[in-house]
Parts: sequence; structure tokens; C-alpha cells
Amino acid sequence: MKKVVLAYSGGLDTSCAIKWLKDKGYEVVCFIADLGQGLGKGEDFGAIEERALAAGALKVYIKDLQAEFVKDFVVPSLKANAVYEGKYFLATALGRPLIAKYLVEVAHKEKAQCVSHGCTGKGNDQVRFEVTIGILDPELEIIAPLRCWEFKSREEEIEYAKKQHIPIDVTRKKPYSIDRNIWGISIEAGVLEDLEKEPPEDAYLITKNPSDMSGHPKYVELYFEKGVPRKLDGKSLPLKALINELNRIGGQYGVGRADMVENRLVGIKSREIYEAPAAAILHTAHKELEALTLDRETLHYKEIIALKYAELVYYGLWYSTLKKALDGFVAVTQEYVTGSVKLKLSRGNCVPVSRRSANSLYKKELSTYGKEDKFNQQLAEGFIRLWGMPYQK
Ligand code: ARG
Repeated sequence: MKKVVLAYSGGLDTSCAIKWLKDKGYEVVCFIADLGQGLGKGEDFGAIEERALAAGALKVYIKDLQAEFVKDFVVPSLKANAVYEGKYFLATALGRPLIAKYLVEVAHKEKAQCVSHGCTGKGNDQVRFEVTIGILDPELEIIAPLRCWEFKSREEEIEYAKKQHIPIDVTRKKPYSIDRNIWGISIEAGVLEDLEKEPPEDAYLITKNPSDMSGHPKYVELYFEKGVPRKLDGKSLPLKALINELNRIGGQYGVGRADMVENRLVGIKSREIYEAPAAAILHTAHKELEALTLDRETLHYKEIIALKYAELVYYGLWYSTLKKALDGFVAVTQEYVTGSVKLKLSRGNCVPVSRRSANSLYKKELSTYGKEDKFNQQLAEGFIRLWGMPYQK
């Protein structure tokens, strides 16, 4: 009998996939990754494990990957300032290669020949999973039930689940497709597919509506050590706790929402909304500290790297040589990125208001218009002449 390891979420698609794979003659082992997704009301990982077993899984692995996710995926992308098409902090995209890595690991442990996932044929996630699996173990066969099974709609899947006694929660109305982890939430489908409509408030899960808020601002101070966030308001915190806390505070002030039409890798434009308060705050603070500590040319070049880095993450190329090489570039720059930035959060905005670093390249005696001025203005004349010389006719 062939064995398959399925990336299981507990939702309708992957629950049906268990039974579907089993009926195709596979032994199904489920792998559940805890990336800080938060579960449905009254749900825990035990309940999801029960559901997988009831749907026909032979065995279930549950692994808390949050610490590894934050350290090895989130922080490198933050150091690189990786943001896709100017708005998306890549929460979903960063999670996929890590889940794929453990799918492969469990497949080896279980001596399984195949791995499987619940992605459709229209999205980026299938690419991220399969490219990563292909890099880590090209021998593994990949099965994508949603690309080839007979169900044409959610209703048909529910019908199948009922007939097959697959325990699913159909009472809960599911107007959106949601992917969530500690770094952010991606929300699509339903009314969001109408580009001319503003997203309804009920689509947002962790951020308050900025327009409902009083003008009362909140200040937060972040300390970074070599590009890694270490302290919040002077208090050292492990990364996971720091991100959770910033999600909480940022969410209170409506920070980190995005409404976006994005270009998927498979050529489709899609509308998605995002909530990522911690990511928005940390990216803003980190960039501000780089503005203070990096010289102009390094900073400008790094912006080019950031664009490419975000594309590679989005395109599922986390384990590529180019991504690794860009990490090398970024690592050199982050040597200098130590210091503190204070931000003001108010009505959905997050802006830096003060910054401080022992590596600061700011020289007040050069920039000042006051009497402490040490800048020799005579030198400017010659500089401008040489600088403009090539352009004179
Ligand atoms: N568009 C995002 C990406 O490709 C998120 C995809 C998953 N979104 C979702 N709502 N299930 O990374």
C-alpha cells in the first residue's frame, strides 16, 4: 500500500482529501503545522487531530513551528524589507516553504512515497509547496486532490463529506477564504471579489476600524540588534511574544490593514485584503533605523534587493541559490542596524517620531542651520561644477 503525507488544516478541503486519498488506495498520514494560525471557536489541535482520524487518517503529526517560522523565515524577510507589490508582508508565502520542509521530513520518517496538499490549481501556494518539495526531495510524488478531484463546488464537497461521515463544521458560515499565521492574515473570496466594493468590516479579524477611533495616539519603542527586533518599550522579549504583542497593540489602533489587487504567479490578478499589524510596525521601524545607520549607496541598493527578495518569496523560491545569496548581502548590511525607533500609532497609521543609534551616520554639525555649523560651504561650489560638468553643452 502506498503512503501519503497530507498537509492538513482541519478545514473542509483537506478533510475531504483524507477520505478521497484513502479511497484511491493510500494510507494517509496527516501533518498539522502550528504557525500561530489561531483556531476556530472552541477548537484546539486535539479537536483537529480527532477530525483527521475520524475522516480516515492513519496517524496525525502536530508540530509547533512558530519559533522556527519567526526566526528563520520572518526575521530574514524583515531584514530584507521584503514587501510584495508595496503592500503584502508575505505571511502566507513565508509559511509555505516551512510547512513543505516538514512534509518532506515526515514523509521520510514514515517511509511515504507521496506528499499531498489542499491547494487549488489557481493559486500561488501550490507552487510554493511543490517547488520546495521538488528542491528538498525530487523523488517524492506530489498529489494535489483539489486540482483533479470530481467536486466542482464547496456544496459538492459538503455533500460528499456528509455522505462519507466526514466530520465537518458546516454550521459556521464561511464567507471568505482565510489563511492565517503569526505574521499576518490573508483574506479573499466572497464579496471581496467585487473590486468596486469596500471590504465589509466583518472581513477583518484582528484590526479595529481606523475610522471608528478617537485621535488618541499610542507610542511604542522598538530596539533592534543587527536588524533583529529585541525589545519593546525597553523590555526584552522573545520574537514570538514581541510579534504577538505588536499584533495586539497595532490591531487596537487599526494598523496593518491592506486592500490589494495583486499579481499571482500563475498570471491571474486577484483581490485580497491583509491584516498584519506587527509586520507593518516592525517594517516601519526597521526601515527607519536603516535610514539612520546605512550610507546612501548601500541603502539605495538594498531597495533593489528588497524588491527581488519579495518576488522570490512570493514565487516560492525560498530555497533558491539567489535567495541565499541575497541573504548574504542583507547580512552584511544588518551589522550596522542596531538602535531604537519610537513610533506613533493612531487611526490606522504608524509613523516614526524618534530614532537613536550608536551607529548613526547623522551628523548634526553638518546638517544644522544653527550656529554649531561645521560644514564648509565653499566646497559646494567646486563639487557642483564637477558634478554638473558632463551635462553641460
Ligand atoms: N495571496 C496571498 C499569497 O499568495 C495569500 C494566499 C492565500 N490566501 C487565502 N486567503 N487563503 O501569498
